[in-house]
Amino acid sequence: MSEQKFLWGGSTSAFQFEGGGNEGGKGQSIYDAREAKSGITYSIASDFYHRYREDIALMAEMGFTAFRMSIAWTRIIPDGEGPVNEEGIAFYRSVFSELKNHGIEPVVTLFHWDMPLALVEKYDGWFGEETLRAFERYCHVCFEHFGDLVHYWLTLNENNLGLMIPSMFSSKKRSSQDPDYEVYRWTSYHHTILAHFAAVRACHKMLPGASIGCMMASALAYPLSPDPRDVRAAQVHNETVNWDEIELLTSGRYNAHMLRAMESAGVDLKIAADHVQLMLDPTSKMDFISFSYYYSVCMRDGENKANEDAETIQMMYSAYANPCLEKSSFGWTIDPMGLRIFMNELYDRFGLPVMVVENGLGVKDDVLNEDGTVHDDYRIAYLREHIDAVNKTRFEDGVPVLGYLPWGCIDLYSASGDRTKRYGFVYVDFDGGLSRYRKDSFYWYRDVIASDGENLDGGR
Ligand code: BG6
Repeated sequence: MSEQKFLWGGSTSAFQFEGGGNEGGKGQSIYDAREAKSGITYSIASDFYHRYREDIALMAEMGFTAFRMSIAWTRIIPDGEGPVNEEGIAFYRSVFSELKNHGIEPVVTLFHWDMPLALVEKYDGWFGEETLRAFERYCHVCFEHFGDLVHYWLTLNENNLGLMIPSMFSSKKRSSQDPDYEVYRWTSYHHTILAHFAAVRACHKMLPGASIGCMMASALAYPLSPDPRDVRAAQVHNETVNWDEIELLTSGRYNAHMLRAMESAGVDLKIAADHVQLMLDPTSKMDFISFSYYYSVCMRDGENKANEDAETIQMMYSAYANPCLEKSSFGWTIDPMGLRIFMNELYDRFGLPVMVVENGLGVKDDVLNEDGTVHDDYRIAYLREHIDAVNKTRFEDGVPVLGYLPWGCIDLYSASGDRTKRYGFVYVDFDGGLSRYRKDSFYWYRDVIASDGENLDGGR
């Protein structure tokens, strides 16, 4: 890749979009196991597996220059650590080639949560060091087989949430009351950090021209009031959720907050010498930071009685709704300025280029009309404001933003499996044979891309 062009496109993940769950030699992931219990048909999802040519043609029609997707580990190595599945390799090579043939750069997440079930059963997910070794090998396989087609790589999706939701990859439900809870969550988290470093180092070694970054969930917090106690509560939140991990990934060292948190939890990680070396190795330092951004939150100090009537919104952060902002129908605050603030702060702190790899408005309101139209003006309004914020960050603030890849560009399953929460420019009729329909936002986004973000008022 020579000159770096801004990446305009969209974003998905394998377990929410790909389908083909029982085909092509794919092994079971934790989502396949969940399907057996919940009936949520992850094995079909939006059926990109069979329709990728049609979907990529739609992306090309919008003018996408990039498309974020993840590789399902279990399609490459069905049990996570055993033989490589050649059919899986052939599938992704075919998808990446199709993208390249349309001038679309694949942006590939190596791990978007769909952990091989076998590794959860055998090693308790990221808790076992064996899983780390299996991941390293899986990354090698990916770099070896796809390196000629993929320039942009992302390591682990939203890894900064790992300490908050440690049960995600556990073979048994963990509770904070369990005696081994703290050791479990810090050990598992530490292994994901090593997984990130190992992936970056291998990528740099095997694919010197490629670019690789982390993927974090942004959870920007403001103080609920100017009361210094609330300001401090927001600061602590931002450090813990947003900045500590990026500091760790950029410096190779746990900072004082993290060390203190471990110490007070009675956890001593005893990091092996070769792991210390890996974390400090200059070749294991990433090239950019990618992130998801949907909303901001407010924090208040628990003792601050002045704010007692404030509206709480949980979002796993025990946060409060910002009284200055509107909310989506899912209760997520709509805060385009927060995106600009977040990117500025991220760049000021770490000095690495940033990439927006998730953003968007998930709603239940999309209506497929009889003539095949979907009038999603609310989505256009949301995206217009956020793209305007990206433009200002790029051109007024001078932050190197590599791309804007909003989430679920073609409708897919939400993380919880809800297929009525839609984000896409393309409507997928989940009850009507999975046919695709262009929403109004499709035409609008096509004009945005054609003008490199200048025309925010186009469309049909
Ligand atoms: C991010 C995840 O947390 O948010 C995606 O990386 C997820 O996998 C997205 O789908 C949107 O959340 P939801 O709950 O609307 O699917």
